Amino acid sequence: MCGIVGYTGRRKAAPILLDALSRLEYRGYDSAGLAVRDGEKLAEVVKATGKLIHLADKTDQGRALEGNCGIGHTRWATHGDPSLINAHPHVSGNCSGSGSGEVESEVVGVHNGIIENFAELKDKLLRHGYTFYSETDTEVLIKLVDYYYRKYKIGPVDAINRMMVRVRGSYALALMFRDYPGEIFAARKDSPMIIGTKDGETYLASDVPAILKYTREVYYIDNLQVARIAPGQVTFYDLNGDEVELPRTEITWDAAAAERGGFEHFMLKEIHEQPAAVRDTLNSLIRDGRIDLSASGLTEEELRAAEQIDIVACGSAWHVGMAAQYVIEGLAGLPVRVELASEFRYRQLPLNERTLVIVISQSGETADSLAALRVAKERGAKTLAIVNVIGSTIAREADHVLYTLAGPEIAVATTKAYSAQLVTADVLAVELASVRGMMDDARRDELLAELMTLPDKINRILEEKERLQWFSSKIANTHDIFFIGRGLDYAISLEGSLKMKEISYIHSEAYAAGELKHGTISLIENNTLVIGVLTQNDLYEKTLSNMMECKSRGAYLMGLTTNGHFSVEDSVNFTVYIPKTDGFFMASLAVIPLQLLAYYTSVNRGLDVDKPRNLAKSVTVE
Ligand code: AGP
Repeated sequence: MCGIVGYTGRRKAAPILLDALSRLEYRGYDSAGLAVRDGEKLAEVVKATGKLIHLADKTDQGRALEGNCGIGHTRWATHGDPSLINAHPHVSGNCSGSGSGEVESEVVGVHNGIIENFAELKDKLLRHGYTFYSETDTEVLIKLVDYYYRKYKIGPVDAINRMMVRVRGSYALALMFRDYPGEIFAARKDSPMIIGTKDGETYLASDVPAILKYTREVYYIDNLQVARIAPGQVTFYDLNGDEVELPRTEITWDAAAAERGGFEHFMLKEIHEQPAAVRDTLNSLIRDGRIDLSASGLTEEELRAAEQIDIVACGSAWHVGMAAQYVIEGLAGLPVRVELASEFRYRQLPLNERTLVIVISQSGETADSLAALRVAKERGAKTLAIVNVIGSTIAREADHVLYTLAGPEIAVATTKAYSAQLVTADVLAVELASVRGMMDDARRDELLAELMTLPDKINRILEEKERLQWFSSKIANTHDIFFIGRGLDYAISLEGSLKMKEISYIHSEAYAAGELKHGTISLIENNTLVIGVLTQNDLYEKTLSNMMECKSRGAYLMGLTTNGHFSVEDSVNFTVYIPKTDGFFMASLAVIPLQLLAYYTSVNRGLDVDKPRNLAKSVTVE
């Protein structure tokens, strides 16, 4: 996620802005920038790609920039590559290649969030004579504010309100207007922002850590409110332009806890970010109820021409492939192979231009997945990457790329990126079925509508996490755990097992439930924990009977199933229920309790949840 900061007061702004941005680095970024005003003078903008130190060096640690009012930004690219010209701040006028220098524009600003309808807004502004220098949705947002500011001439608050009525998406926005020296105007919707004051100075930030050093007295500006910020004072307005009073809150967290948003670990924070990650990803693929994969460059002809799909990945990304296999085969009737990247790169698989190779990777830098991508291209296959990091190597080398909008993932054990990849694969499966005539419009619309219900259903599961926390305390000293399921439930079991073993260090295996009796069931003994995933209605009874086979040999059973299958409680020792959704999308819900179970088990065992032993967030070596 991007990070925004602002300051206005009696001190030099740039050093404070740089310090505040440095406390947001944990959010992940690929470029940064500042805009600072010295009294009535025009704002000075400085940008730099890469780490914040480059921006600090460019501005002599901020000392080279005069002025007591300014805004700053660290960019996690969502629209447009991580380049200098796409770095924030952005302006309402034109901008030279470097993006730095004095700003003639009326409005200069920084933004964290995603504007869903930026394309139509850009067309509107082009028709009104605006030109654009970057690929970002932020530039569109700022030029839209400028458009209303010039057209209605009633001031910044009104211009921002008019923008908010017209825009769809999420934003935490900080703006400086040329006619209002020393002041910052801010607005938010769904993206976090706080405003703090102390001793005649005012601070703005995406998150608490940025300003905790300066003040613990903050205001949480609400959605669709505007803040007018001056040295030591802030005024809030609602969408009608009427002043509103907001309570002032004292922050009691320490700095480390604040970086995790108050959560004990990044993994728990990221588990709770999954509704937003899924919603943002779906909104980038589905516009006005229709699938739009145009950003990837993938054409309907290419989707129709595919005769074989090979999904290639590692770890949890491979588990996404295992789930996607059932969804694509079930909806689109296409044969799907799912290959471990480390194996794929050495196999002599017959590939050709009618094979679509899909490489899934959160980091976009996994060595085995990158090597597999190169092998696929050498053999003439079409390649599509599903990646979370914009501009990463796999994203750049694939023929096409679909970005997941999970934001930076800090914990080694992936959660929100896995979930974002899952729904991306689901949308792709629906599109494949639709363009290949395997699905009528009514069924397509029904499935897309069901996908849009997943964020709320994930939230409902998160609201009941205490049961999993309790059960994890019961299993914390278990030595072996088996996750079993059939069909999509087997794919879910794979991810549940990996989550458990990689952060709790408890030996765990995922097994196709029908395979147990071919050997592994010999390992089941008294009190061996067997977790049965039972979300697929047509396979429910068969998996339950496999669980009974384990129970008859002494196993302790946990059942994971959907609301309504209450009879399962007659057979198992502990049950976890999840909301219902279409059978093809069950993995998005069933994985949440398994993530939480692994997380709480690791915490109960006193382990380093975010940085488990022997593991790296991205395996960039073979
Ligand atoms: C999952 O929790 C692990 N962190 C690991 O299996 C990971 O999914 C795998 O290394 C692939 O990484 P990538 O998605 O960045 O390619």
